[in-house]
Amino acid sequence: MAQLWGGRFTGETDRLAYRFNASINFDKRLFHQDIEGSIAHVTMLAKQRILTEEEKESIVQGLQGILEDVNHGKLEIDDTCEDIHSFVETHLIERIGEAGKKLHTGRSRNDQVALDMRLYTRQQVQNTDALLKELLGVILAVMEENVETYMPGFTHLQKAQPVTLAHHYGAYFEMFRRDRQRMEDIYRRMNYCPLGAGALAGTTYPLDREYTASLLGFAGVTQNSMDSVSDRDYLIEFLAALSTVMMHLSRFSEEIIIWNSNEYQFVEIDDAYSTGSSIMPQKKNPDIAELVRGKTGRVYGALMSLLTTMKGIPLAYNKDMQEDKEVAFDAMDTVKDCLVLFTGMLRTMKFRKERMAASAMKGFTNATDAADYLAGKGVPFRDAHAIVGRLVLYCIERETSIDKLSLKELKEISDKFDEDIYMAVSLETCVAKRLTTGAPGPEAMREAIKQYRICLES
Ligand code: ARG
Repeated sequence: MAQLWGGRFTGETDRLAYRFNASINFDKRLFHQDIEGSIAHVTMLAKQRILTEEEKESIVQGLQGILEDVNHGKLEIDDTCEDIHSFVETHLIERIGEAGKKLHTGRSRNDQVALDMRLYTRQQVQNTDALLKELLGVILAVMEENVETYMPGFTHLQKAQPVTLAHHYGAYFEMFRRDRQRMEDIYRRMNYCPLGAGALAGTTYPLDREYTASLLGFAGVTQNSMDSVSDRDYLIEFLAALSTVMMHLSRFSEEIIIWNSNEYQFVEIDDAYSTGSSIMPQKKNPDIAELVRGKTGRVYGALMSLLTTMKGIPLAYNKDMQEDKEVAFDAMDTVKDCLVLFTGMLRTMKFRKERMAASAMKGFTNATDAADYLAGKGVPFRDAHAIVGRLVLYCIERETSIDKLSLKELKEISDKFDEDIYMAVSLETCVAKRLTTGAPGPEAMREAIKQYRICLES
């Protein structure tokens, strides 16, 4: 019996093991980087006289031919090869023969994959930065238009003090600006070339690592060959920064979902970024904002996944590290889509400014200012706070607001109140008087906006 299926069973297991081990399905994404790295590598080998000029020429032409054929759809990256490195090398040898077999001189797949992934990630860091810049541009344009658009500011999701739309958006400008700074920082730290580290201990060939690094636009070379093939810190840093971008997008999405709710109606999301319900005809749902909020989880997941993969790996390269790719690619794709869609949604979203201002007038957002008014008339702030507390209670019982009380009613609570109280607790005054750096007062805001413009254009 065993004979009947034994051989076949072993065969099946081997096939599964092959599939389990192979990475071509996802590392084919590194095709361009693999070719670029190989061209730089052979250029350096020829300069060092490890390869002849003819061999180099033949290899470079072969590699460019493969690149063109794949780009033009004449050659397909299928799963007959184990990974993208074998795919390129196999096709090179097929095309140019003997010289092709010299491509891998002084190189291991370990430093090769370390390079490819670094090149790919480096580009992604730049792309993310460009998308963040675009988002900041949209945020700033809204700020410039809305320095005097009033809305309630919240703490604990309870109305706290009035702010402006420019001020509220300004908080997000700061967040995404820091995200850009993180990109810059990561780029600077990661921009060193690992090629030449070999499998783990360098090579015996007289490679000019600095030259290869300069061909590939790196600031220099990595310093320890064992670290070079097994460092994925830069990727972890990038995933952490992407997670932070998502956290910011998710908070913003949450606010938009609240603002878009029937109760608030502060905003109108454009039809292009909302969807309807299959059963309830009246619905216009903020799906894009909800999905951005929802997809935050998978980006955090990628970070946790890679941190966990790396935590028990002895030096140097181990196959576990192949697991960096799928999660990282997924996170990169997700953040890209989220940034593009979110920016589009923001660009087209309309504000219902009257509703926002009306909401800011309700909920005693001027209570602090009423207390400050009394303090200005010599009442110690703690006493003023208590007086206005009583005032608020008085208003709640009568379903009214501070500014609607008569002077007689106000004076019954404190004789320090005068005619000028009405001006002092108006929405405009409450905001206009907040002029310290970072506050919503229009003058302070205009100054901040000026700085933001400069920051965005530099
Ligand atoms: N596919 C591998 C990875 O992504 C490439 C490096 C393979 N190196 C090796 N020694 N098997 O990590």
